Amino acid sequence: MAAQARSIPRLSPHTVANCLHAAVAAPSVHNTQPWLFRVRGRQVEVWVDRDRQLPALDPSGRQMFISVGAAIFNLRIAMCVNGRIPVLRLLPDATRPELAALVQAGPLTAPGPAATVLAAAIARRHTNRRPYRAEAVPWPVLDELSGAAAAEGARLTVAEPIPRDAILALTRTADEILRQDAGYLTELAAWTGGDPGRQDGIPAYAYPPDDAAGRLPLRRFGPAREAARFERRPTIVRLTTRGDAPYDWLRAGQALQRVLLTATVRQLAASPVNQALEVPELRALVGGGHGHAQMILRIGYGDPVPATPRRTVSEILHPDTASAESGAA
Ligand SMILES: Cc1cc2nc3c(=O)[nH]c(=O)nc-3n(C[C@H](O)[C@H](O)[C@H](O)COP(=O)(O)O)c2cc1C
Repeated sequence: MAAQARSIPRLSPHTVANCLHAAVAAPSVHNTQPWLFRVRGRQVEVWVDRDRQLPALDPSGRQMFISVGAAIFNLRIAMCVNGRIPVLRLLPDATRPELAALVQAGPLTAPGPAATVLAAAIARRHTNRRPYRAEAVPWPVLDELSGAAAAEGARLTVAEPIPRDAILALTRTADEILRQDAGYLTELAAWTGGDPGRQDGIPAYAYPPDDAAGRLPLRRFGPAREAARFERRPTIVRLTTRGDAPYDWLRAGQALQRVLLTATVRQLAASPVNQALEVPELRALVGGGHGHAQMILRIGYGDPVPATPRRTVSEILHPDTASAESGAA
């Protein structure tokens, strides 16, 4: 057994760089990129970066763990297409709760078609807050998205018209409550706009236009440059989990990313609309009997939008990382 383990090769610097590059392309709440990585031999440690948590919006760290879960999914997929079977352990050390996961490069493998297709979607996936076309998402595609969530231990359900309108009404109420919270507004200001060279936060070009009909309560990150007509009947899905602890949030994040990449493969756009999940009394109403609501997504067909910035790989290495181990040039 030991001899067999020894024969499994280390990660090459090229593979490490590919894996980390893929991981940081993940979505994150307010584009905070709350992750750190440390590479040891053939093991990648993924840490949550508490310095990037949003204390007003996300006091429990739920959305931070979901964001890190999304990065873990990208890392796993990148490891597959770089010819290694990823072996995942979530929260492997109870004494170090910031260590979100160990992703070990297992034996060599020929990448399968599913991983190859999802990996190719990583760079094309962007949050799209613009109007979508009035074109229904076919049920087989919605089923495929539900299957993607289920494969990662979460549940994705499509909100029928009445629950959908109820969720949007809750979102509007939540938005009004949040906008009276000075802490929320201060955080929003800190993570939006900024100088053009900034490598995190949400740039003004990614803000949603104003909804001319006032129906769709997308989060307002700053003054919109224009007004637009949004789809009258948005497709709203919710992602739920059975539990509601860091382990479940990491699962939800992986499910979220598998859903978003699958949507990208199917030419679908998506944008989270999460305000109702940030007011505890309202969040409890969103789950719809399916468990704890982790994400609310609007999906549909839209025109492409540009990517948002990311920090470079050298900036997301754990401070204890020896540069020789990182393999990141
Ligand atoms: C846990 C989580 C919560 C998010 N919540 C919202 C939200 O409520 N509204 C929104 O417009 N975008 C939301 N986003 C999208 C992020 O703002 C987006 O991922 C980030 O700005 C990076 O942009 P990108 O997805 O285009 O790469 C969320 C993303 C994550 C992972």
